[in-house]
This record gives sequence, C-alpha cells and structure tokens, in this order.
Amino acid sequence: MMSVLCCFYAQRGASSTRISSWLMQRLVLCVFVMAVARGQVRYSIPEEMTKGSVVGNIVQDLGLDVKRLKSGRARIFTEDSREYIGLNVDKGTLIVKERIDREELCAQVSPCSLHFQIILENPMELHRIDVEILDINDHAPVFKKKEITFQMSESALSGARFSIDSANDPDVGINSLQTYKLTSSDHFTVKIPAHLDETKYIEMILQKPLDRETAEEHKLILTAFDGGNPQKTGTIKINVIVLDANDNAPVFSQSVYRALIPENYSKGSTVLKVSATDGDMGSNGEVTYSFSQSSEGSSGLFNIDSSSGDITVNGPLDFEKYKKYELSVEATDKGGLSDISKVHIEITDINDNAPIISVISFSSPVPENSAPETVIAMLNVKDLDSGKNGVVKCFIPHNLPFKIKSSTPNFYSVVTDELLDREIISEYNITITAIDEGSPSFSTNKTLTLKISDVNDNAPVFQRQSYTAYVLENNSPESLFYLLKRMTKTLAITRAFHIF
Ligand SMILES: *[C@@H]1O[C@H](CO)[C@@H](O)[C@H](O)[C@H]1NC(C)=O
Repeated sequence: MMSVLCCFYAQRGASSTRISSWLMQRLVLCVFVMAVARGQVRYSIPEEMTKGSVVGNIVQDLGLDVKRLKSGRARIFTEDSREYIGLNVDKGTLIVKERIDREELCAQVSPCSLHFQIILENPMELHRIDVEILDINDHAPVFKKKEITFQMSESALSGARFSIDSANDPDVGINSLQTYKLTSSDHFTVKIPAHLDETKYIEMILQKPLDRETAEEHKLILTAFDGGNPQKTGTIKINVIVLDANDNAPVFSQSVYRALIPENYSKGSTVLKVSATDGDMGSNGEVTYSFSQSSEGSSGLFNIDSSSGDITVNGPLDFEKYKKYELSVEATDKGGLSDISKVHIEITDINDNAPIISVISFSSPVPENSAPETVIAMLNVKDLDSGKNGVVKCFIPHNLPFKIKSSTPNFYSVVTDELLDREIISEYNITITAIDEGSPSFSTNKTLTLKISDVNDNAPVFQRQSYTAYVLENNSPESLFYLLKRMTKTLAITRAFHIF
C-alpha cells in the first residue's frame, strides 16, 4: 500500500461534528439535532500519482461506515468540471481518478489544493474534503534557447554586463530554480539575483579583459539548478566571439637588419627585406613600410616597397664615398600604431679604381756619367680601392738601365742601374707600370722621357782611316769643300785628306 501522508484536520467546530458522527456510529443512542452535519478532512498527496492510488480512507477519517455510504448514496460533488478524485463506495476510500499535474492545476500558486464535498442523503450530510497536491520535482529548469552568441569587442572593459534570459522551472518551492553556475571561464561570472523567481534576466559580467589574439572565442555553459532531490538542471551554451580592436602595434622581426652589398650593385637590386607582423585582424593588422624621417638623407639611394618591405638600390653607390648607411624603417598599421627598426647597409669595395701615379720630382736630362743609383724620379702611387684592390706594385721594363725602388709604401724612386752612354742612347722612354692586386686588376702606365746629357768623354773619331775622292783638276775650291762635307758629314776634321 502506498504511503500517503494523511492528516486529520479540525476547523471551526469540525472536531465536534466529527465526534458526533463517531458517536452516531458507535453510540446509537445519540440523537442529532443538526439537519446538516459538516466534517472536514484534509489529505496531502504528491502530484502525478498513478490512477487508482488511494488518497485516504473516509470511512475511518469521517467516522462513517460502508453501509451508510451505500444507504446515503454517498457521492462526490465538485464545482470544477474535472473530477480528479473518485470515491470507492465499497471500500470507503478516495482514489486518484485522473492524473494530477500540480503545475497545470495551480501553476506557481502554493499550496495547491483540490476542494470537494462528499454528499450523503437520508439524512443529508456534507463533508468537505481538501486534498493538497504536493509538488514533486518533475520539471527541470529550462532556458528558452539552447545556445546564445555574444560578439564582444576585445576592448570591452571589465565590469561590462551581458544579459541572458533566465531559466524557468515550473515546480515550486525547493523544487524550483535555486541557483546558476557558469563554467569554464576565467573571464566571466554570473550575478545570481536575490529573487530568482522574479528575475527575467541573469547578468553575465566581464571580470577580466578579453584578448582576441589569445582567444578568439570563449565557450561557456550556464547551468540552472533546482533544489529537488534528485536535483535537476538546465543548461544554455554561451558563445562569446571576441571582435578585434587595434590593440597590437606592428612588430619588426628584427631590431636591426644588416646587409653587405658590393658598391657596383645596380639600381633596382634588392638589398634586403624587412618584415613586421601585427596580431590584429583585417586593416588593423595591415602593415605598410617606409623610411622614417631620421634617415631621409641617405634614403634617396635606397627605396622601400611600402607593402612588401623590400629595400632596393635606387642610385649609384660608391664605397670610396660612403662605406655604410644607417637607415630607420617604420612599419605602420592602418590604425596608426607603428614600430621602428634599423637597417645597416655596408658597402663592400670592388676594384673599380685604377692606380694613380704622381711624379713628385723628375730630373731630366741626366749627365751620361751619372753614377749607378742616381735618382732620376720620385713617384707616389695610390689606389682609391681598399684591401687587395688598393694594393699597388710598380715596375719598369727590365731591358732598361734603370730600376725602381720603394723605401716607404707607395713611394718609389727610379734610379740608374748602370753607367749610361749618351753616344749610344741619348734618350730613354721609361714606362712605369703600377698595377693593383684586385681581381681583375687595374693598371696605369706613365712614361718619363729621360734625356742623357753629354759630357766630353770622346775625342772625335773618323769613320775611316782615309777617304779618297776624285775631283777634276779645274774644280773650284768651293766644290771641293762641298765634296769634303758630303764625305765626312762632320765638322771636326783632323784627318788627312788625299786629294788628287
Ligand atoms: C719616346 O717617346 C716619344 C713619344 O712617343 C717618341 O717620339 C720618341 O721617339 C721615343 N723615344 C725613344 C728613344 O723611343
């Protein structure tokens, strides 16, 4: 037998009436004065009991017996159209006739009761019966939506509030909604209102700023709990989509970029590529590159592609003028945030300069009797290139009676190597060649024309021991002289002439 909570209830003289009935049952002697007797019994049953379940035994509780029920044609009178409770006249019990849903019957009204009368005739009796329908936890809290999505800017401040439709649980009392819990979020909390049953919205509060670059989306679950046993719950999925704000500046991949390029790099050649990243989305993350103000002076020689970050050569480079350039590049996003980085471009020398020979002093003519090692010329050589490209050696042809010597780097002297003889060679073209060690190398020639001056180291010498000429006897002295001149071609005449 089902355990039914039954209470015996007395109100406004009901107890005396009930005692009278009891007396009428037990002590037949008793005579009734009252035409209509009123008893009142209250039962409590949980909702949703199965059909046929016993609500209470009225024979016991009203002090009637089954015969009297039959003779009095006992029946239930209810003002409502529906009869949830029926009377078993044979057993004297009230039974559940129809499914009783407390929520349908009373909604949020509590306590929830059914009221009806048991009527008996001969004599007429009315017994009021109240059946309180107790709530059972037959409903879970329910959110109207299964899922909601919020779009929040990552710049939203802590304390920002977002409302969520509250859950609903038609049960009453402890079986109704008791609390909420938000799971898996460091960023949000829910504020649980004091009067849950009167609240239409639950506030979700941002506790800690969002960062789209760390998490683009947060998936949360809000659970509503009732207080029944077992406890029932309802959940709603909350998706938080974090919208980008321009909260990230571009960042260069390096604080200094270095490049080493030869000075003959042609216009348009790529030197290097700078690159900066920006954590933001869309235009907030689009980066453009430029030379910053500080490097305006040298930037004419270089170009930067504003979108790719490629730095190219834009003008002639010359190692001999500038060996390195320091530029500043700036990366700027569309929101105006920027980063600056340095670009160091070093120019390497290539052998683009020929040696230069400068004659410091040159003595010409030199007397033919000059002693060997007599200095004829002092030279200086230089080469604008550096390293091997600027290392210069000088030499002169081997077949000349001169040599070239170097005492200090880049200074040379041309000296005589042997005695000279003007009467053999009176003039020398001395070609000095300066050559650098570059690869390929450059060389420069310089020719010094050296004249040898005469000293009187020779007596005149006839080419032959004797000269013979035939002249006609009647020749004039003038023609003879002319002939002699043709024969010797020299003015120093000490040899004998045999003239016939
Ligand atoms: C030296 O060079 C000059 C100019 O080229 C030339 O006229 C002259 O004949 C040369 N002298 C010798 C000895 O080769």
